[in-house]
Amino acid sequence: MFENMTEQQARKTILESVKQYCEKFHMQQGTWKKGERIPYAARVYDSREMTALADSALDFWLTAGRYMQLFEKELAAYLNVPFCSMVNSGSSANLLAFMAFTSPLLEDRQIKRGDEVITAAAGFPTTVTPIIQYGAVPVFADITIPEYNIDVNRLEEAYSSRTKAVMLAHTLGNPFALKAVRQFCDSHKLWLIEDNCDALGSVYEMDGIQRLTGTIGDIGTSSFYPPHHITTGEGGAVYTKDPLLHKIIRSLRDWGRQCQCPPGTDGICGHRFDGQYGELPPGYDHKYVYSHFGYNLKATDMQAAIGCAQLEKLPEFTAQRRNHFQRLKQALVSAPAAASVEQRLILPKAAAHSIPSWFGFPVTCREGTDRTAIVSYLEERGIQTRMLFAGNLIRHPCFDQIRAQGSGYRVAGSLENTERVMRDTFWVGVYPGMTDDMVDEIAQVLVEAIT
Ligand SMILES: Cc1ncc(COP(=O)(O)O)c(C=O)c1O
Repeated sequence: MFENMTEQQARKTILESVKQYCEKFHMQQGTWKKGERIPYAARVYDSREMTALADSALDFWLTAGRYMQLFEKELAAYLNVPFCSMVNSGSSANLLAFMAFTSPLLEDRQIKRGDEVITAAAGFPTTVTPIIQYGAVPVFADITIPEYNIDVNRLEEAYSSRTKAVMLAHTLGNPFALKAVRQFCDSHKLWLIEDNCDALGSVYEMDGIQRLTGTIGDIGTSSFYPPHHITTGEGGAVYTKDPLLHKIIRSLRDWGRQCQCPPGTDGICGHRFDGQYGELPPGYDHKYVYSHFGYNLKATDMQAAIGCAQLEKLPEFTAQRRNHFQRLKQALVSAPAAASVEQRLILPKAAAHSIPSWFGFPVTCREGTDRTAIVSYLEERGIQTRMLFAGNLIRHPCFDQIRAQGSGYRVAGSLENTERVMRDTFWVGVYPGMTDDMVDEIAQVLVEAIT
């Protein structure tokens, strides 16, 4: 088949076939029809992702390579930050972000074991997991409903002389009160980690400037697991404006090494054999000098290739998420049974000064409205639902041991709303692959469920 072809021509032929394959076998599903399932999220892609994936497979570089460099550059440009590192998941991104602050290079601002980190218990576990795994102490503060983010009035109460950082997610794309949290962090010299895994594309206005979430804290993180705002299958990213934090992140991501040569390359720093490090002999190969106890959390070039194609679609995805959210909310507040919708359900609200790129549409059942009955009604009619992740993380079996010990975490005041979310909240999707008909169906079935 490839006789008389150059490598470039052969590649073009293969990629053209992949494109046609994708268009014939992946893109012919037709539009949604009433009665069909409405998932809370799904991959949204076309032949551009598939040909990029095939292109990188043909390189057979496998590990981080040209696509990862491009993806990191383009995501950094989108976010308007200088530094971005791709990793293999959002949980790895959170692990890396947190562990960066435990680096001795940060001197008196290094987080040490026993230091406290203010966070929320209503959310996804791996925002909190790295804190516990390292031996620092999460301090849980309550959230507000219907924003589902930390109640900033609780921050001072949560603070102690051991507090070193605040680590919070923007719940379902709705930004937490970044201005108040940033001011709190600045006034106490605390690090701020934004788990931006569910919020890529959300905007927050601060001091008259609109900024993307994930770029106001010291480090932001993303997840590219399929339901998220863009996907690479498994994947994530860590971003920052701070060159020292970036250096630490890269070191921890890449085995803890000091040298920053990309995989498969040598001597980019120009000082491979002329340094003196620790107690090593002079001239010890810089490629094998370790300044941190690190990991290997890199993604592959195949993942990055898909990411490059997805990034081009991000502005359109963001617009669709916003449209679907508005359409669903509008349908619920203007339904013939609107009065009873609002009597039975608390509908979501965007944080002040924000334009969320919603990950989902959260709803809390009012007193006397049975969440299980509503969720079952929706699921039986093909509408997929989700809880607000862990609800109250402290109630989970992973906390059994530390709960019994009565140490290892702290609660600032009551977690009344966190408990409420665990009991009464659920959410449905607004992902970009949905059509207006699907959104209208969710609204109609939800109204039916409560009337
Ligand atoms: C807020 C939040 N943080 C972190 C993660 C973890 O991301 P990943 O599944 O890529 O590990 C998720 C997962 O959905 C999440 O919702």
